[in-house]
Amino acid sequence: MRDTKYMAIPPGAILPGSLPKFKIYVLSPDGRYILWARSGNEVNRDRLVTLAETGQEEVYIDLDEEIKYEEYLENNLGIILENQGMPDQQKAEVFSRVSTNVVRDTFETSLGLGAMQPDSLRRTQALVNHSLMFIAESNSLRPLAKMIGHDYKTYEHATKVLWFTVAFLRSNPDILAQIVPDIESYHEVQKKELLKQCGVGAMLHDIGKTFVSPEILNKNGPLNAVEWEIIKRHPLTSFAMLADTETPAFVKKAILQHHEDYNGEGYPMGLKGKNINVLARVLRIVDVFDAMTSRRPYKEAFSPMEAARIMVGTPEKGDASPNGDGRDPRDLGMKKCFDEKLLRKFIVFLGKVSSQM
Ligand SMILES: [Fe+2]
Repeated sequence: MRDTKYMAIPPGAILPGSLPKFKIYVLSPDGRYILWARSGNEVNRDRLVTLAETGQEEVYIDLDEEIKYEEYLENNLGIILENQGMPDQQKAEVFSRVSTNVVRDTFETSLGLGAMQPDSLRRTQALVNHSLMFIAESNSLRPLAKMIGHDYKTYEHATKVLWFTVAFLRSNPDILAQIVPDIESYHEVQKKELLKQCGVGAMLHDIGKTFVSPEILNKNGPLNAVEWEIIKRHPLTSFAMLADTETPAFVKKAILQHHEDYNGEGYPMGLKGKNINVLARVLRIVDVFDAMTSRRPYKEAFSPMEAARIMVGTPEKGDASPNGDGRDPRDLGMKKCFDEKLLRKFIVFLGKVSSQM
């Protein structure tokens, strides 16, 4: 049995010329961990090439040094995700590990403060910036596959909403043109900046949930009226937390409106149709899709196909009595919640990316 003191990491995460502040080990054929690089020493390209030639698919670090490893990943994320020699699956694992950490820290440092901490916003922007091209160009759900169907966790949810939002918008530039009508005159750098801002909005849309107690967020069953009213405040809280930051107005609006329904029955303001910001209409779709394909305390995960079927469905007359047959009335069809044109595009997008899984 392998020693639990060590943790396996992909060799592709170690960059030539870098100075990792943690020790790296390799496993010998007789099962011993041999020190391969000392903490703080430069790892040069030749040694990494030699390591790759030995066919090592994993190297190891001390479990005690996991935090140092995670800092290293976050500081070098952009370069790691551009590493041509690293398989997409390993990049996705690095991305989701860094992203989950950034979201967790962002939520924890915001707890009870009522404002987004500048350092958290900076880390979120850097994360989105460094992962943008990897997400946009991966063209497949495969790297995300390990996260689909998992238990619903706010931190993982933010990561998946970021992924879907960026990938979807990237493959539908006409939606970005609804945010910025003169996008045709934009340089690549400006387009990337726009996509980054949308990604930051996707990451932070639920930041206001830091003001909702875990008992309500993780309740194993339907919410009562009071709990529901508390939950319904979170878009407004998210908006307020970002109010004094330099986040663009359309992103703040999208966060405020991400639970508005296209037919006007959403919250907090009951806005209708095109009065709802276009990024908010996208987030509404992506947010619901990810929640439905995650395992929640009171419900099994739907497959992506089942979730899409429910999202385009319309309840039949008589079906709408809440919980009359024990089923969640929303599972009978949610079409009224969404901008139908955007939803159709999203389903086409899902078809494309899941066929390559
Ligand atoms: Fe939300």
